[in-house]
Amino acid sequence: MCGIVGYIGHREAYPILIKGLKRLEYRGYDSAGVALIGEDRQLNVYKAKGKVSDLEAFVSQKDVSGNVGIAHTRWATHGEPCAANAHPHYSSSQRLALIHNGIIENYAVLKEKLQAKGYTFRSSTDTEVLVQLIEYIQTVDNIDLLTAVQLALREVIGAYAIAVMDRDNPDEIVAARKSSPLVVGIGQDEFFLASDATPIVEYTDKVVYLEDEEIAVIRRGAPLKVVNLNNVECPHEIKTVSMNLGQLEKGGYPHFMLKEIFEQPDCIYDCMRGRINVEGTNVVLSAVIDYKERLLAANRFIIVACGTSWHAALIGKHLIESFCRIPVVVEYASEFRYQDPVIGSNDVVIAISQSGETADTLAAVELAKSRGAFIYGICNAIGSSIPRATHTGSYIHVGPEIGVASTKAFTGQVTVLTMLALTLAREKRTIDDAFYLSVVQELEQIPEKMKEVLKQNDRIAELSKIFTYAHNFIYLGRGYSYPVALEGALKLKEISYIHAEGYPAAEMKHGPIALVDAEMPVVVIATQNGLYEKVLSNIQEIKARKGRVIALVNKGDTVISRLADTCIELPETLECLEPLIATVPLQLMAYHIAVCKGMDVDQPRNLAKSVTVE
Ligand code: G6P
Repeated sequence: MCGIVGYIGHREAYPILIKGLKRLEYRGYDSAGVALIGEDRQLNVYKAKGKVSDLEAFVSQKDVSGNVGIAHTRWATHGEPCAANAHPHYSSSQRLALIHNGIIENYAVLKEKLQAKGYTFRSSTDTEVLVQLIEYIQTVDNIDLLTAVQLALREVIGAYAIAVMDRDNPDEIVAARKSSPLVVGIGQDEFFLASDATPIVEYTDKVVYLEDEEIAVIRRGAPLKVVNLNNVECPHEIKTVSMNLGQLEKGGYPHFMLKEIFEQPDCIYDCMRGRINVEGTNVVLSAVIDYKERLLAANRFIIVACGTSWHAALIGKHLIESFCRIPVVVEYASEFRYQDPVIGSNDVVIAISQSGETADTLAAVELAKSRGAFIYGICNAIGSSIPRATHTGSYIHVGPEIGVASTKAFTGQVTVLTMLALTLAREKRTIDDAFYLSVVQELEQIPEKMKEVLKQNDRIAELSKIFTYAHNFIYLGRGYSYPVALEGALKLKEISYIHAEGYPAAEMKHGPIALVDAEMPVVVIATQNGLYEKVLSNIQEIKARKGRVIALVNKGDTVISRLADTCIELPETLECLEPLIATVPLQLMAYHIAVCKGMDVDQPRNLAKSVTVE
């Protein structure tokens, strides 16, 4: 969702801001803008609907000088995507410019109040209300920008990460956060601001993650100042971020999504590194060991997540219940937070989030924490809000994920969940040594087996061409493969805009079978596990209704290959590890169908990578 970038220092701000916006493009957006205080000390704001490249084209003949500025990519919430609603927003006198990520929930009340005082509005956004309010307070009380921001934010209900500049005070940017992420980068006589560290790492590895209701004042020639809304100084820790710039580039691939699909074998190695011993006989997730008493004493686990992470949670439930015999409930974070959940100090909540910033998941964590539950985070983005809000957790260590459709984060999450279940089961003595060892050893083989699947990329690209005509798809799987079916369907709809449903294979008879005809492709995960015969019957039922079956089968399967229209062969593995293998061809198929249809794979319409508003 909305991306924020800011710069103040000795360099030209515009190129840094534009490059920063491009780094944040992955978050999803529909318009972009920039504000700079130029050499003539004017505050110039430029905005355009569309991509950052549209903004660049728009400003090509304009004055973009200055070494202080803020920039923004907007994902529309209040008001359609258009230049007028894009950020930065000017205040009435055009003295202030402000960018915002989040939602001001009481904007209507504040707007009425300002309108009664003669303020007029150029946009239909909630954000413009905030910049007008700051200017109103600043003018009436004749106070500095920081104090005006503090007073204004005390009136605001909602979520925000903001940055404000004042034409009359060009040596300063004031930035604040509540529930939306904001990072300050500290360079040599220069400061950076961004929604995450990706626009900053090229210039400095020293960052400060702002906490809720903290305000940063970045001022030329002065150290970083962090205060709260009551102007009390807040101690802040300067962290060192390590991010390889190559991870932020496409590295020769046409899209980030394809690169990230192909990175998965390496990512799984990275995820396991230091957690499985060199002999490949033992798994240790240190957070599980450190808190084993708390985890083992739990009545049940509740996993909260959204989107793809929720699909990983379903696999986690299966793993933890079957390995550890602990009951697990999986909840959509957005539902959990509003259903007054019965939860207490004997519960463990596992929050899964790639970005670590999903507003609903973060709110679910805060709620569960306030009721005494123990919170374990499984996240990717280091230093993001959810890992900071949890009691402990494990990073998945798959590197920055840029493609909006999550791929390597999913397999990373499933890998961590597998290691978590194994570590706990060993502590609880709920699995025997032979089974434990077989899972650990097989887990180590997964990267090589993923590579075998990736070798089929060209074939999957070819067969994907056949299915670009389809308006609907059904994905079926059972047991561990049911969440894989859900994930396959989600990937396809996200990036190709083809309607797709994932179902437990046996449930097909309770509805989806009515949709099956000669036009309907049905993807079936039909590997040789305990439910093979049952899935085989489901395939017969589809074929009897002339559906077109694309089956994922184990190498050498001759039975299903005779029935199905198309088969994709997978190397054999343990049933509990099959999701790590079976997801990969489904990611590739979704990717190639979307490419064939000419879709914007990395930035699909309406979607955001990091959903920072509820
Ligand atoms: C968005 C993204 C999905 C992601 C979901 C949850 O919808 O487009 O790819 O799965 O948010 O995000 P999280 O960062 O919490 O895993």
